[in-house]
Amino acid sequence: MSGKTYKIAVIPGDGTGPEVVDEGLKVLNAAAQKYGFTLDTASFDFGGDRYLKTGVILTDDDVNEMKKFDSIFLGAIGHPEVKPGILEKGILLKLRFELDQYINLRPVKLFPGVETPLKNKGPKEIDYVVVRENTGGLYTGTGGFSMKGTQNEVAVQSMVYSRYQVERCLRYAFETTKKINKTNTLALCGKTNVLTYAFDLWERAFHEIGEADYPEIKREYYHVDATCMWMVKNPEWFDVLVTSNMFGDIITDLGAMTQGGMGIAAGGNINPEGVSMFEPIGGSAPKYTGQNVINPLAAICAGYMMLDHLGEVEAAKDIEKAVMDITENKLKSLAAGKMGYSTKEVGDLVIQSLNENS
Ligand code: IPM
Ligand code: MN
Repeated sequence: MSGKTYKIAVIPGDGTGPEVVDEGLKVLNAAAQKYGFTLDTASFDFGGDRYLKTGVILTDDDVNEMKKFDSIFLGAIGHPEVKPGILEKGILLKLRFELDQYINLRPVKLFPGVETPLKNKGPKEIDYVVVRENTGGLYTGTGGFSMKGTQNEVAVQSMVYSRYQVERCLRYAFETTKKINKTNTLALCGKTNVLTYAFDLWERAFHEIGEADYPEIKREYYHVDATCMWMVKNPEWFDVLVTSNMFGDIITDLGAMTQGGMGIAAGGNINPEGVSMFEPIGGSAPKYTGQNVINPLAAICAGYMMLDHLGEVEAAKDIEKAVMDITENKLKSLAAGKMGYSTKEVGDLVIQSLNENS
């Protein structure tokens, strides 16, 4: 019983975001009651609808407002009537960058009872964490056009990494490996055979930091293409994987599919010294909006990651256990409309299981 109160900014966002956020909050509040803490929430209407109505994407005041909270709980950003890129860059990436959420923590964990496309692999084999660098690399937007519109047009988009960025991400990954304390193996995923500057820096920093400060952690290296191969063929090799922003984006979609898809995959955009933001990693799935069929488990999982980050570790574990209970014993599928239950019923089932756990 921590007795604490946490100030949570809630951004339901677009499409099915609000529906899954509702279920996430319902479960979080049930856990709060059970564990004696309080969530003081405030909702913000950032997203496609506000943009279409007002032309406002995300102002500096909006960002500053977020700094007053202990954490942010996000549904989804992405609206079918808004050109792709505007909201993603203007809201999601802007929040990640301005709040310096330099880690994107994405567990790849197959829960019991969940179907995976990987043959002969189960929850024992598919259980690792990806630490994705979240504010640098190709995502910084460094680059430009010259001679645009002519036959000689040149477009440049640079993968930019500073030692500082690489180092803080690697240190977080080493610490995560230590905390998980499973096989104590940290794998760097890169492309040192082609990206001979950026990943040379990553690789040097990786070994220097490991040797100096984490001698007990075993270090491995995989090229990103090979990583994809092993994530499918031998996912049990992985414990913690650390990688750049773009590679992390790509491999975590692959990872998500191996853990049952976007209905379950969650992540945290983390600033260990600041305000972090937790989200289901799938999109806004606009075609399912308002139908009460979308799977809220990814949002519920994002919710318990947030609690874990805030220090409510027991409550977080307990929600995870409840989610595992219903994937194993209740849900027919994790796909929207095929769960055998509605969005709201899934939230209710998690709470029921949570309240039955001792
Ligand atoms: C993700 C998404 C975002 C990203 C997009 C929407 C900008 O794919 O969170 O993985 O590329 O980081
Ligand atoms: Mn992505």
